[in-house]
Order: sequence, then C-alpha cells, then structure tokens
Amino acid sequence: MRKVSVDRLKSGMKVGRSVINTNGQILLAHGIILNEKFIKRLAHLGIPAVYIDDGFLSDIQVEDVVSERTRYQAIELTKKVFQDFQYTRSLTGLEKVENAVGVLIKELLDNDTLMVNLVDIRGLDEYTFGHSVNTCILAVITAIHMGYNEKKLHLLAMGAILHDLGKILVPQEILNKPGKLTDEEFEVIKTHSEFGYRLLSANKDFNSISSTVAWQHHERYNGSGYPQGLAGNRIHEFSFIVGVADVYDALTADRVYRKAHPPHEAFEMLSGTGDYLFDYEVVKAFLYHVAAYPVGSLVRLNNRQTGVVLENRPGYPLRPKLKILFNVQDEPELNPYELDLGVHPNFSIINVIEEDDVLDVYKKKICT
Ligand SMILES: [Fe+2]
Repeated sequence: MRKVSVDRLKSGMKVGRSVINTNGQILLAHGIILNEKFIKRLAHLGIPAVYIDDGFLSDIQVEDVVSERTRYQAIELTKKVFQDFQYTRSLTGLEKVENAVGVLIKELLDNDTLMVNLVDIRGLDEYTFGHSVNTCILAVITAIHMGYNEKKLHLLAMGAILHDLGKILVPQEILNKPGKLTDEEFEVIKTHSEFGYRLLSANKDFNSISSTVAWQHHERYNGSGYPQGLAGNRIHEFSFIVGVADVYDALTADRVYRKAHPPHEAFEMLSGTGDYLFDYEVVKAFLYHVAAYPVGSLVRLNNRQTGVVLENRPGYPLRPKLKILFNVQDEPELNPYELDLGVHPNFSIINVIEEDDVLDVYKKKICT
C-alpha cells in the first residue's frame, strides 16, 4: 500500500484504505477500483491523496493507531456537538463524545506499538473536526508514554477533543480565510481559547481541568502564547500535551492558506521546541511515538541507496527498517533486501523522495 497524490491517480487503481470525509461518511470504500469520475470528485473535494493497493509493495501495510470506525465515530459526534450549539446555543451530546473518547483510549491502551505512521488525509472542508480527533489521539498517545492512568487520560482526551470548541463563535470567513490574516482578524481568532473555556466551564458536568485545556492550548513555555501569555509551569501539563499535538497535526495537514508539511519536516520543527515553546518532557514523549518517515515513505541514504520504509519502532523515529530498492549506483535492486537503520548507525536518511517518480522508474526497470 502506498500514498498517491490525487493528481497522480489513474483509472484502474485499487483503493487501499477507505476515503472518509470529515462527516464520517465513506466517499470511497477500501477495495474499490478508481475511475475518472471518482478521481475528479476527489480532486473537487480537495482530498490531497489516497492510499492505493496495487500489488506492488503489497507487503507494506500502513496501520492506523485506532480503528477507522472509532476515529470517524468520534469525528461525527464532535461535529454534532458543534452543530447543535449553532442551533440551540447550548452544549449537548457531550456524554456521547465521552463514550467515543472512552473507546478511543481503550484501543490506544491495547495497541502495543503505538507508532503514528499514518498521515490522516482529509479534505479542506470542515477541517476542525478531523483535527480535533487527531489532536486527541496524539495527545493520548503522548500521555500514555508519560504514565497517565485511565482516569487522567480521559480528562485529557475530553479537553483535547474539544480544545477548539470556541471556534464556534469565530466567523467562518476569518477561520477559512485563504490568505494572511490581518492583525485585527488574528485578534478575533485568539478569542476562541477563552470562548471555549467559558462554554465548557459553564457546564457543571464538565471537569474544570479539561476546560483549562481549551483556555491554555495556545500558551507557550516561554510566555509567547495567548490569551494570557502564561509561561513555564504556570501552564498546565495537559495544555502542553494538547498544544504539541495540535501544532503537529496542523503542520501535517493541507490548509486553505498553505500545503501540508511532510512528516519529517513537522518532526524537525517540533524537535527544537522543548523548554522553549513546550515542556521538554512532553515534546520528548510525543516524538517517541511519531515517525519522521512514515511507513511507505521513499528515502535516500547517505551512501546513495534508495529504499522504502517498512517499519518504525517507538523511540527510534529517525531510524526505520527499510527495503532497499536502488543500490549505491542508483540501479534497481533485482532482489530488494531489508536494511534496519536501527542496527546500522553509519547509514542515515538524507532525503525524502516524491512518492511516485522513483517507484515508476523501479517498476519499469524491473519489468523490462
Ligand atoms: Fe486552537
């Protein structure tokens, strides 16, 4: 299975992983064969890429950390909370989100590798809901690493999944503005932290630690954040965890105003933020479980070999296990073999190669 940009999809390709919109509806089910109509529709919806299963590299399986059903149920229920608020001006459906979060935590606790290898592909429409759930998943993974018990995980997860609730009260034209925000518009965006906190803390059944996350998730260790400009340990640990997850997920997604950063760039950007923008221990825990080079990435090594990432292990995010496809002379390996960077310290990844170009060359050379 490999990720292919929508502009490189061709009729006849088989969908390797269901494409689901932010409402939780399946647009294209796993196993469907693409045709021109489907491809045009994906492009129209702003879906950037699709996982394709074409038999080539079929031994590469890209696993999500939670099941598709759990992820999309959580998205659907979060969206419902936001939508119902628009009509009723009150928060309803929080118990259902609590249940969905409980299932999500259980799946993450039962997952024994906990390595984030999958970039959650989503369209540009209704970015907030997919982002809320992904932020929640990344936050829980970080907190599991930090030894949180189930009760604490639950409080954190509720704060994470609703951290941007206050965006309900920010005008859509500002939230989805394609260009750079003016200073005044940015001031309006900033109000979402306090709005979210007020809405959640007005609900007596909602734990105050979880609502603090909505208030503080844009605060930064060095005091440069908002709304209060808090610094160091005046910021709750939950808020740092959600802050790191929030930033990573935002960096790796296409936004109306910029393209997504590839995972290795987002990894590098976060690597330098310990005790600067976020608490060091939180950043360390987060990066332990997020692959800089997700499974299926094509990478070039310092000795000029080219390979595809087969496996990542927690704690070794920069040293995956590879399958070598091109040798040091840049010729295709007729018998690709495995190379584990975890036990070969002299080899390192120096470059990530655009998905299809190299694979097409490899396939052509091997078949002729
Ligand atoms: Fe936010």
